[in-house]
Amino acid sequence: MKILAVIGSPRGKGQGSRIVEKVEKKMKRLGKLDFEYLFLKDADLKLCRGCFLCISKGRKFCPIEDDANKIEEKIGNTDGVILSSPGYVYNVSWLMKNFIDRFAYSNHRPQFFDQKLMLIANSGGAGMEETIDAMRNTFGVGPEIVDEITYMSPPWDLTDKAAVKQDNTVDKAAANFYNSILNGEREVPGLH
Ligand SMILES: Cc1cc2nc3c(=O)[nH]c(=O)nc-3n(C[C@H](O)[C@H](O)[C@H](O)COP(=O)(O)O)c2cc1C
Repeated sequence: MKILAVIGSPRGKGQGSRIVEKVEKKMKRLGKLDFEYLFLKDADLKLCRGCFLCISKGRKFCPIEDDANKIEEKIGNTDGVILSSPGYVYNVSWLMKNFIDRFAYSNHRPQFFDQKLMLIANSGGAGMEETIDAMRNTFGVGPEIVDEITYMSPPWDLTDKAAVKQDNTVDKAAANFYNSILNGEREVPGLH
């Protein structure tokens, strides 16, 4: 099983990546898997210029030369994709937004049907649902969204009780993600 975790925090290894590490740890307890991190802050994924060619003509007509093709190939060769973004003013980080825009064509030219998706939003406590919401259409109707995790990660320590509760939620979601990929079935995409 192959998992690709796309980390949208400009801090790289911040709170969001620590939550993803918890998912990785739990999944690795359940079985063998390759787990790869794609830190958007280090990726050569330039800003979308809005020419619309990827949508009107096709992805290969994008005039930007960077790692988008490689990333697309990586996603195509993976079983599960995790999108992780900090909540920035009730939305995703700019890095995640650019990632979403660079793959916007997949909303109109659906692909990645064999992949399953986990969405993770972390913030000081506000705007996590909105952040998840902003990631839901990343690949259109292609992959099935299996899990959505909201995780409060303020700059101060959480009480033990609150931390344990959130970690249990992460563990459950990770197990669900693993089992869903393992059994291979997916929901039939709706009319949307
Ligand atoms: C520009 C900016 C905007 C933010 N906006 C919010 C917000 O709307 N709500 C909130 O609860 N936290 C907000 N935060 C706090 C981050 O979401 C929080 O610190 C998060 O844990 C950072 O995750 P990271 O370490 O993975 O980057 C903001 C932080 C920054 C830098």
